[in-house]
Amino acid sequence: MTTETVQKETPAIAIIGGTGLTQLEGPEIQQTHTPETRLGQPSSAVEEGQWNGRRVLFLARHGHPHAVPPHKINYRANLLALKELGATHVIAVNAVGGIRSDMVSGRIAIPHQVVDYTWGREGTFFDGDFMPLDHIDLTHPYDEELRQQIIAAADRREMAVSDDGVYAATQGPRLETVAEIVRLERDGCDLVGMTGMPEAALARELGLAYASICLVVNPAAGKSDGEITMAEIKAVIDSGMGQVRDLIAETLKGM
Ligand code: HPA
Repeated sequence: MTTETVQKETPAIAIIGGTGLTQLEGPEIQQTHTPETRLGQPSSAVEEGQWNGRRVLFLARHGHPHAVPPHKINYRANLLALKELGATHVIAVNAVGGIRSDMVSGRIAIPHQVVDYTWGREGTFFDGDFMPLDHIDLTHPYDEELRQQIIAAADRREMAVSDDGVYAATQGPRLETVAEIVRLERDGCDLVGMTGMPEAALARELGLAYASICLVVNPAAGKSDGEITMAEIKAVIDSGMGQVRDLIAETLKGM
């Protein structure tokens, strides 16, 4: 089945799950799509369901099970598949390292800006091939209305979240050096992750309202004593992703 043959129904809210969120427990899954787009296959099947009265589409950014590294994700196919299945909004979930002093492990942040340090990724639909060259505005890379809906949902649930943050998108899959984090901090970055770009830009190119829920899973390199371990990251993900799920559920209620 190609995504073009899928009948678009009610507009949907797409959720792109990152590390630690490869499956959505919450919505009642009604259908599983395995789209093949004109730009290739997305990272995972797309699960469709109803959640708090909304049609939702869920895609696991790194595949399910988690296997696709950040620089090899077909971001274009992921966004295109969601768009062709009827998505109008995308809530992205990103596990990140904390740079700013209040971005401690377990903290949830709704970033408002991005600095892109990635390279070599297919970062546009307007490549003169898939679509004619065009230049989108990305002054505010996240959709402000969607961001405010998430922040309002956190308020209703009395969840303490950071309502801003500059997200640094790095290439990965390795983590950063101390000097790199010092540079990012000097650049004004508060959070660091590997998948925020080109995803946000591609969503804008397709006219999708896009915002991110970041879960801080470790202090960035040099922001704590010692090295960053996967065990430490996994422990924070295990304890924190439930809150992210609750926040998505509450956000859907308010949309
Ligand atoms: N750096 C980059 N990406 C990340 C980190 C980090 O410290 N933690 C989780 N994703």
